[in-house]
Amino acid sequence: EAAPQLVDGTFVRDLIDLDAREVSLRVHHDREIFDIEMERIFAKSWLPLAHESEIPNPGDFVRRNAGQDSCLVVRREDGSIAVLLNACSHRGMTLCREEKGNSQTFKCPYHGWAFGKDGRFLGAPFEKQMYGDELRRAADDLHLVVAKTAMLGGMIFANWDQDAEDFEAYLGDFAWYLRAALERTNRGFEVIGPPQRQIMRANWKLLAEQLADGYHARALHQSAGDMGTLGHDAHDPASWGMVGINVSTPGGHTMRCIDTRLAYSFAGIGDTASVAERLAAVPPPGANADMVKQFSNNLSDGQMRLLADTPPLVMGLFPGTDFFMLMSVGGSDDGSHGPVMVARAWTPRSPELFEMLTWTLVERDAPPELREQTRLTTLRNFGISGFIEQDDAEAWQGIQKAVQGPVARRMTAKYQAKLGVTRPEGFEGGGDVYAGFSRDDAQWAWWKRYAQVMGA
Ligand code: FES
Ligand code: FE
Repeated sequence: EAAPQLVDGTFVRDLIDLDAREVSLRVHHDREIFDIEMERIFAKSWLPLAHESEIPNPGDFVRRNAGQDSCLVVRREDGSIAVLLNACSHRGMTLCREEKGNSQTFKCPYHGWAFGKDGRFLGAPFEKQMYGDELRRAADDLHLVVAKTAMLGGMIFANWDQDAEDFEAYLGDFAWYLRAALERTNRGFEVIGPPQRQIMRANWKLLAEQLADGYHARALHQSAGDMGTLGHDAHDPASWGMVGINVSTPGGHTMRCIDTRLAYSFAGIGDTASVAERLAAVPPPGANADMVKQFSNNLSDGQMRLLADTPPLVMGLFPGTDFFMLMSVGGSDDGSHGPVMVARAWTPRSPELFEMLTWTLVERDAPPELREQTRLTTLRNFGISGFIEQDDAEAWQGIQKAVQGPVARRMTAKYQAKLGVTRPEGFEGGGDVYAGFSRDDAQWAWWKRYAQVMGA
């Protein structure tokens, strides 16, 4: 593919200065850039749509957006999942307008063509009178468009591009970390209720690139910290998630893992404790001491060490998914800390608008009290009513507002704080690993991937 060029002759890739590590703020505003992103990124990427626990029975479906396109995520008769374009093959009418439901077939409201749970064309009203035998002969061309699908931790991903790299290749080295976080127990996660849905008045990249930004915590989230959200020592940058291990991969996936050494000292655990003892004393968010015993059935020693010493706080998949796992207040009256367990997916609507879906994750084996604490703590920290996320949303929308003007749009965003690859000895995870005080490395890796896709 040729490098995309804007009407004024600018190459999109030239808006990103790979040597100086700066990005023109124009990327958050320009309509042409947005259109290229939709073609080059969202129509070709693996996008998260639903959690399989939302559609447990054959015929269950939810309506979601995969990039700019509406689709139906359907449980088929054999238990597998189909992702169907929600546009009738006759003349393109929106096939289904329900948010969710259970249906054996999908019938178009316009002329009544009907399709099966796997997207197959089943028939049309007055078929003989209208078409004779012609329609039957052409039936193979009349099925709904079907996306490629894949699953991770119960989350369903889809890709419209039939030639796209397969899901494992897309995850690359990131799979090791994601599986440690999302497939650690025997029965895995389910979601509580339907996802929250909200519209943000900001460019989608402001969320996506922020996932690797540890630097903002102490300033932007100061008020949340003052409310007691932090677990241990509210003056220590480790408590703020600013110290630990950051990871990026060439695919643009990024992650911040927080250092739990402080938690050990508060739990009275010494240096000589085994990984199992460390996990039992300070289970990673969302788990309890019982569930921790299942980890060794599903994870390698290196993955167990990751969850014990530097559990993933936020994992971002390029371009439109993240998972947050942390401890905060809000889920119980006594002010104790509970798990915030979030999966989010975002869909760009315009350069200035994106839609975000937020699911609450809970281990299927969680006892009722832990489930309720997870639900409340997550609701009060993330999503529409979440006081942590509202801080972040303020930054996304604040930047968007500032770049409305032609002068501000000529400025650049700067990412020069460099740590370099510093892989701790014996650390098994792949990708580029940066251990220490969180700097701009992983965030810049996100932009490098963006530049590559937009200019390749
Ligand atoms: Fe769907 Fe005609 S557009 S049946
Ligand atoms: Fe934040």
